[in-house]
Amino acid sequence: MKIILGPASKELGEKTAKLANLETVPVAHKTFPDGESYVRLESSVQDDHVVIVQTTSPPQDSRLMQLAFMAAAAKTNGARRVTAVVPYLAYARQDKLFLQGENISIKTITHMLGEAGIDALITVNIHQKDAFEMFPKQWTRKNLTAIPLLAEYFVKHGYAKAFALAPDKGAMYIAEHAQRVLGGGAGHLEKQRDRYTGQTTQTGEGLDVKGQTVVIFDDIISTGGTIVGAAKILRELGAARIFTACVHPVLVGNAEKRILDAGVEEVVGTDSVPSHVGKVSLAPLIAKALKAQESG
Ligand code: R5P
Repeated sequence: MKIILGPASKELGEKTAKLANLETVPVAHKTFPDGESYVRLESSVQDDHVVIVQTTSPPQDSRLMQLAFMAAAAKTNGARRVTAVVPYLAYARQDKLFLQGENISIKTITHMLGEAGIDALITVNIHQKDAFEMFPKQWTRKNLTAIPLLAEYFVKHGYAKAFALAPDKGAMYIAEHAQRVLGGGAGHLEKQRDRYTGQTTQTGEGLDVKGQTVVIFDDIISTGGTIVGAAKILRELGAARIFTACVHPVLVGNAEKRILDAGVEEVVGTDSVPSHVGKVSLAPLIAKALKAQESG
C-alpha cells in the first residue's frame, strides 16, 4: 500500500503515511491559466494498492477534479486498487431530492469518481450516513468518527464533564459520542430550515445548562450561523462558558470571528479541512483504518 499525497491534504497524507509506515507518492499539480487542473504522479504505482488522501473542502470543484485525475492517473499507470480517503466529502449534504427539479449531487459526484477509477472510499463524519446508499454499488465504504478525538481535546484542556450540545436533533449522535468521553450531560437544540431561503430557526426548550461549561459539537461549521444561533440560546439559558468543536472547519468568510463575537471562547476543528483551528489531527484515525485494511 502506498499513499498518494493529494494537493489538498498533503500534510495530513504525510502524517498518516508516517504513522502507518507507508511509502508516499508525491504529486505535481498546477492550474492552467484558464482554470483547468493538472496532476502527475511522481513515482511508480505499478501493481500497488494506492490510497489517495485528498479532502474536498472549498474550492471543492477543483479539488474533486484533482481527486478524479489522481485516481485515473493511478489506474492508467498500473495501480491495482485505488482507495480514496476524503475526510470532508463535498456535496454530501445534497443526499436526496429536497425539491422538485434538483439532482442528488452526492450520487452524481461519487459515480463520476467511480468512473475515474476509485474502488473504495473512506470518509470522516459524513453529514448523513444515508449518503452511502448513493455511492456506486461496488464501492467498499467506511465512515470514521473523529468526535472522540475532539472530545479528548477538551478533557486534556481541563473541561471533563462539560455538557455536549448538538445544534440539531440530527447531530445528537455526535453529542452522545462526545458525552462518552467527556462524562457530562448531553442534549440538542431544535433547528428548522426553510428549504427555499436556507434560513434556519433554533430553539432550546427543556435544556438545562445553567452555570455549565458547554461544548457545541457539529460535523461542519460553514458560515458559522448554526453555532452563532446556538450560542445565543445558551447565553439566554445561563451557560457559564461556551466552546465549539467540529470535524470539518470549512469556516466560510469571517465565520470564526462571528462565532467568537457571539461569546464562544474557542473554535476547535480537525485537519480534515486545513485551517488554523485544526488543532486535532485525523492522521492517527486514518492510519489505524488503513492498517486494519492492510491486515484484513
Ligand atoms: C447541518 O445540518 C450541518 O450539520 C451543520 O450544522 C451546518 O452545515 C453548519 O452550517 P453553518 O455553519 O453555515 O450554519
